[in-house]
Amino acid sequence: MSNLQTLEKIEQQTFIDVVRERRSVRQYDPTVRISQEEMTEMLGLATLAPSSSNLQPWRFLVIDQPELKKKLLPIAYNQQQVVEASAVIAVLGDVESYEKAEKIYGQAVEAGFMPEDTAVSFIERTVRTYSSLPPEAARQIVSIDGGLISMQLMLIARSKGYDTVPMGGYDKAKFVEAFGIGEKYVPVMLIAIGKATKPGHPTTRLPIEDVAFFNEMPTK
Ligand SMILES: Cc1cc2nc3c(=O)[nH]c(=O)nc-3n(C[C@H](O)[C@H](O)[C@H](O)COP(=O)(O)O)c2cc1C
Repeated sequence: MSNLQTLEKIEQQTFIDVVRERRSVRQYDPTVRISQEEMTEMLGLATLAPSSSNLQPWRFLVIDQPELKKKLLPIAYNQQQVVEASAVIAVLGDVESYEKAEKIYGQAVEAGFMPEDTAVSFIERTVRTYSSLPPEAARQIVSIDGGLISMQLMLIARSKGYDTVPMGGYDKAKFVEAFGIGEKYVPVMLIAIGKATKPGHPTTRLPIEDVAFFNEMPTK
């Protein structure tokens, strides 16, 4: 094996370890702070996730001020991790992310990834399609993209020594109201992030033959 192959193998192993080690953690050291710089770095890496037409509809509200975490606590049904974790990241999906199509495809032209005329037709088609979607379809798209970025963010956090728990257990209507979230944003999930004081409890998975099929789905 060449040095490069050995290095690739180690990197692969490291990645698989991160996947295996991620667990939902619900007990955190409340004294740990994550700097805005480090948080921004993790979020930036997470945004390398794929998204529908590369519209990147994810928006993050990082809640790390103690009084705001306290305000969130009852909205998240008093789940203690909300106040103990270093931060809670609200992952939101912007159903009007097509407004950024010009910027996104413009960047691609500037970077030399796309000829200008291709970008112009992409922008026209993307804005036309996404701005006329039925609201439910638009919400579904940003929820899928929001799920992808959430997973990516949790793995990045783990690789940097942090733990997370994704949370769907909160009152979305109350959250939107309490935090002044505009109508164009779909609340996807909350992610608590910090340093565990107690490891997440182990969980099991269905055997792979219950969930994966080749070429044909079972009838039942
Ligand atoms: C969309 C979603 C919502 C979840 N909501 C909560 C929640 O509100 N509170 C909580 O403690 N865990 C929540 N979880 C964590 C799951 O319980 C956990 O992922 C699952 O039991 C598997 O455990 P693991 O993450 O440790 O592998 C949620 C997970 C997902 C994917």
